[in-house]
Amino acid sequence: MQQRILLVEDEPILRVTLTNDLTEEGYQVIAISDGAEALRVIQEQTFDASLLDLRLPKVDGLTLLQSFKASNPSGIAVMMTAYGTIQSAVAAMKAGATDYLVKPFPTDDLLVLLRGLLSQGPGKTGEEAGRSGVQKFGELIYASEKMGRVCNLIATVARSDATILILGETGTGKELVARAVHYQSERRNFPLITVACAAIPEPLLEAELFGHEKGAFTGAIRERKGRFELAHRGSLFLDEVADLGPAVQAKLLRVLQEKEFERIGSARTIKVDVRLISATRKRLEDEVLAGRVREDLFYRLKVITITLPPLRERTEDILPLAEHFIEKYRRPLGKEIRGLSPEACRWLLAYHWPGNVRELEAAVQQAVTLTKKDVLTPEDFSPDGVAMPPGQPSGPALSLSDAIREAERRYLQEVLRSVGGQRKRAAEVLGISRKTLWKKLKLLALE
Ligand SMILES: Nc1ncnc2c1ncn2[C@@H]1O[C@H](COP(=O)(O)OP(=O)(O)OP(=O)(O)O)[C@@H](O)[C@H]1O
Ligand SMILES: [Mg+2]
Repeated sequence: MQQRILLVEDEPILRVTLTNDLTEEGYQVIAISDGAEALRVIQEQTFDASLLDLRLPKVDGLTLLQSFKASNPSGIAVMMTAYGTIQSAVAAMKAGATDYLVKPFPTDDLLVLLRGLLSQGPGKTGEEAGRSGVQKFGELIYASEKMGRVCNLIATVARSDATILILGETGTGKELVARAVHYQSERRNFPLITVACAAIPEPLLEAELFGHEKGAFTGAIRERKGRFELAHRGSLFLDEVADLGPAVQAKLLRVLQEKEFERIGSARTIKVDVRLISATRKRLEDEVLAGRVREDLFYRLKVITITLPPLRERTEDILPLAEHFIEKYRRPLGKEIRGLSPEACRWLLAYHWPGNVRELEAAVQQAVTLTKKDVLTPEDFSPDGVAMPPGQPSGPALSLSDAIREAERRYLQEVLRSVGGQRKRAAEVLGISRKTLWKKLKLLALE
């Protein structure tokens, strides 16, 4: 079935161009120029996605966004904003926008973004991923629906040349995602070059990235290619990109725009064909607002954003990952370890993993190395016998019925929030009657 997109844009040329391009791509587009009319259409029809101008006469884009999300809770909302209005873009993201694009943007960026976002719709992955259990995508192991969506997005965007920004807390797997993007792309037979930006002092980093001629500075005893040249026809992964200094940021912006640069100490312009993937654990918008990252560079980096959820928000992944790491560390030691005791499973599930998958991996490695048993128990994860990690309940974790109740409570809250508290709508979304919803809310003390 054709996917339906609502486009609200008052600027006629952009509206017509986008309508044509989206229609050609196979979408059914409902294009509207006026905010008030858009509000009416949102009440009457449903959509898979919307593309909303943030600044409109009469009704502003944020109001439209809220109304769109209330009527289409699982609909995708992409805001279009003018350059230099990052505050409003941040406000839109807080209000539930899926992403935003800064005008003027190449239509291809929009098409790649929509393709990625719409292919992750709940119908496609969701339940399927849940039902088929543990999955593998590149080096990524997962069982959660959230990671299923991330992997779908990676698969879709890998096919394009769009610049990719990977966000996520420490240890969530950003580097593995960067590798997956490269190895799923047409560039896989060319190099993937990684640069740990935070680890290299600024003056060196410039030479590292762009290379230098012989004698360009003290110590430059021979000419040297930079990482951009080495990554030609492949991908360059800039890790911790928020830590780049101003000089490198300026030069990087130019490569992204013009695909060319000069080595330090040289006037010769070098052309490169490189796909840039960058990652950071910081909120890049905050870095822009604080003046540490150039706004124009930020927009160039974030064409497609892949956000990795923290491990505590995808607990379904904890046990499959733990088992994967047991196998990984057991083998070289020649130990026979059959798995985790039920208490150990509960223990792992209840902990909040601030260091995410990396912390889990380290915990399993230590347990596997030190244990003398063939089943890992909670004691193996706290060998000194006392140190339960912070936030860890001391007794056994929740019983199954309490855990289900807690999950139900959180889900109901989430759905209610997404429909702006409208009970009727929430009941529809949940597929239950209003009466059942009311009973549940009472039972779960959400009334
Ligand atoms: N889904 C996963 N499946 C298997 N291993 C994973 C997964 N996610 C992360 N890991 C492992 O966890 C460790 C941390 O992952 P990675 O280095 O990609 O995290 P990161 O987000 O780059 O962290 P940081 O911000 O600290 O650099 C690695 O050893 C990686 O192999
Ligand atoms: Mg990393």
